[in-house]
Amino acid sequence: MKIIMLGAPGAGKGTQAKQIAAKYNIPHISTGDIFRANIKNGTELGKKAKEYMDQGLLVPDELTCDLVMDRIAQDDAKNGFVLDGFPRTIPQAEALTAALTKIGQSMDFAIDVDVPDENIIGRMSGRRACLKCGATYHIVSIPPKQEGICDTCGSELVLRDDDQPDTVKKRLDVYHAQTQPLIEYYSKQGILKSVSGTQPMETVFANIVEILGE
Ligand code: AP5
Repeated sequence: MKIIMLGAPGAGKGTQAKQIAAKYNIPHISTGDIFRANIKNGTELGKKAKEYMDQGLLVPDELTCDLVMDRIAQDDAKNGFVLDGFPRTIPQAEALTAALTKIGQSMDFAIDVDVPDENIIGRMSGRRACLKCGATYHIVSIPPKQEGICDTCGSELVLRDDDQPDTVKKRLDVYHAQTQPLIEYYSKQGILKSVSGTQPMETVFANIVEILGE
C-alpha cells in the first residue's frame, strides 16, 4: 500500500504516519526527519536544508526529489510506504508520478489531514520533538512520562527551531501557496481522501483505518 499524507504543518501527518507504518508494516518516510537527521549529522545536505527550513521555506525540489526516489527504491519499500511531507509542490508530485509510472506503479491513497490555521500555532508551540528517534510529543495533549525526555530513546526533547510562532506563520503561508494545490492534483487522480484532524488522535487514526481497510 502506497500512501501520501497531506496537510498543513502541524496537522498531525507525522503522528498518524507513524501509526499507519506500524499497523500496515510499511516504512514511514518523512522528508522533514531526513533533513533534520542530516542537520544533526552536519552533512552538506543538512547545511543547505537548514538555510531554508529555519526561514519556514521549502528546501528546493532538486535537493528533495532524488532523495525520496532513492528511498522508495529500497528493499523495505517494495510492499509500500507512507510518505510524510512529500510531495509538497506540484513539480515534486509530478516527479513522483513519473518515477512510479516508469515501473508500472501508482500511489494508492493521498490522505489530507484537515486542520484550520487557527489550531496550528498552539499545536506547534506545544510540540516537543526528539531529534534522535523522531518521536513527537505535545506538552498538553501527549506529554512524555518524564518532562523533556523521550519515552522511546531517553534523549532530550526540543522545541524545533522552525516551531517558533513567526516561522510557523511563514510555513502556513508557504503551505497554502505551494502545497495546498496538491489536494486538487490528487483529487483529479481519484485517490484523495480527507479526514478531520481536529478530532482526538485515536479518532483520526480510526477514520484513516476505515479508509485504508483493516
Ligand atoms: P516537516 O517536518 O515535514 O514539517 P511539516 O510538514 O511542517 O509538518 P510537521 O512535522 O511540522 O507537522 P505534522 O503534520 O507532522 O504534525 P505532528 O504529527 O508532528 O518539514 C519541516 C521542513 O522541512 C519544511 O518546512 C521544509 O523546509 C522542509 N521540507 C520537508 N519536506 C520537504 C519537501 N518535500 N520539500 C521541500 N522542503 C521540505 O503534530 C504536531 C503537534 O500536534 C504534535 O505536538 C502532536 O503531538 C500534536 N497533535 C497531532 N495530532 C493531534 C490531534 N489529533 N489533536 C491534538 N494534537 C495533535
